[in-house]
Order: sequence, then structure tokens, then C-alpha cells
Amino acid sequence: MKIINPTLEKIAVLESQYPAPNLSEIALAGRSNVGKSSLINSLINRKNLARTSQKPGKTRTINFYNIDDKFRLVDLPGYGFAAVSKSEKDKWAETIERYLSSRENLKEVVLLVDIRHEPTNDDLLMYNWILEMGFSGYVIATKLDKIGKSRLQQYIKTIAQKLGIQDRKKIIYYSSETKENREYIYNIIKESI
Ligand code: GTP
Ligand code: MG
Repeated sequence: MKIINPTLEKIAVLESQYPAPNLSEIALAGRSNVGKSSLINSLINRKNLARTSQKPGKTRTINFYNIDDKFRLVDLPGYGFAAVSKSEKDKWAETIERYLSSRENLKEVVLLVDIRHEPTNDDLLMYNWILEMGFSGYVIATKLDKIGKSRLQQYIKTIAQKLGIQDRKKIIYYSSETKENREYIYNIIKESI
């Protein structure tokens, strides 16, 4: 997939701030710090168009990336970030929910999990919701470069078991550093837009 001019089109919290629903959107959901913003940068070949941080809780708004006026990648705030107040957490959850449940041009919601960690109950809730809404249920297991290849299948098995995934092809292991499997993710995007 050739990407020429990706832009950060909109930063939104409220529905009134979303861009017009005129392009297909693919949203990235997952815990704080799992690598959602990094995935976007690596897909569009930009170092820092999506802001990333070593500290969890970097993305606090819904960020709409316009990809050559063909589709949008949507970076959601992460959940499960312990170091914020309950009211702040509720606000983020509301922001995420409002977008996911009302967006007519949303074609796919992809769940990101850190390959090294067993998915949390929040991940499971999110994943079940994704399936209930009729999306394909792709999971991207991030930070592949941080594990030894010999243990890959073991990590994938843990993720599959926790999320109840039978078809292992639904889990794509990925590294934003090495970009291994990037073509596979492009194909999923192409199929869904
Ligand atoms: P929030 O905005 O807080 O929800 O986090 P996020 O999911 O957008 O995570 P972000 O992309 O900001 O990445 C968090 C940290 O993980 C950063 O320090 C990234 O450099 C690092 N990171 C993300 N993906 C990878 C990866 O594939 N490999 C390695 N080694 N580090 C990664
Ligand atoms: Mg982020």
C-alpha cells in the first residue's frame, strides 16, 4: 500500500468534533501503552505524526488520521491506565464508547495487545464487544521485537486462550520497530475499507 500524504485531520472528544462520516474508518483499541499510536506511525511511515510516549496515557482524545483521502485510521485513548482518577477514567471510557457505538462509517475495530502479557479482563470485554458488533475480531499482538522467537507460539496461545480465539490467523504479531507483518495489516485494511 502506497501512502503519500497522511494527515492528522481532527482531534475530537465530542461527536460534534468528529470529521464528516464520508470515509471508511478503522479504529485501534487497546490498553494504554500497548502501541496504538506507534502502529499508526509505522503504517504510514512517519516517525512522529501520531504522538507516542513511554508513559501510559499519552493519547487522551480521538485522533483521526486521514490517509490520502482514501480512509481514516482512528487512534483511540487507551484504557486500563491506573494512574488517573476514577472520574478521568470514566470520561475516557465515555469518549471511546460514544465513538464506537455511534459511528456509521466505522468498518473495523482492531484490538491491540502487548504480546508479552496475558490480555486483561478489560481486553476481554473490549474484544467481546467487538465481536458482538459484528467486526472481524482481528487482534494485533504488539512489541514482537521484545520476545525471543522460540517462545512466539506460547505467547500467541496465551492470547488466544484468554480471548477465546479459535482461528489463530486472527492474531497478527507485529513490531512497530521492525515492521514485520506490515503487509498483512495493509491487506486487512484494504479488505475492510
Ligand atoms: P496511549 O496513547 O497511552 O494509549 O498508548 P499507545 O497505545 O498509543 O502506545 P504508544 O504508541 O505511545 O507506545 C508506548 C510505548 O511503547 C512507546 O515507548 C513506544 O516506543 C513503545 N512501543 C510501541 N510499539 C512498540 C514495538 O512494536 N516495539 C517496541 N520495542 N516498542 C514499542
Ligand atoms: Mg497513543
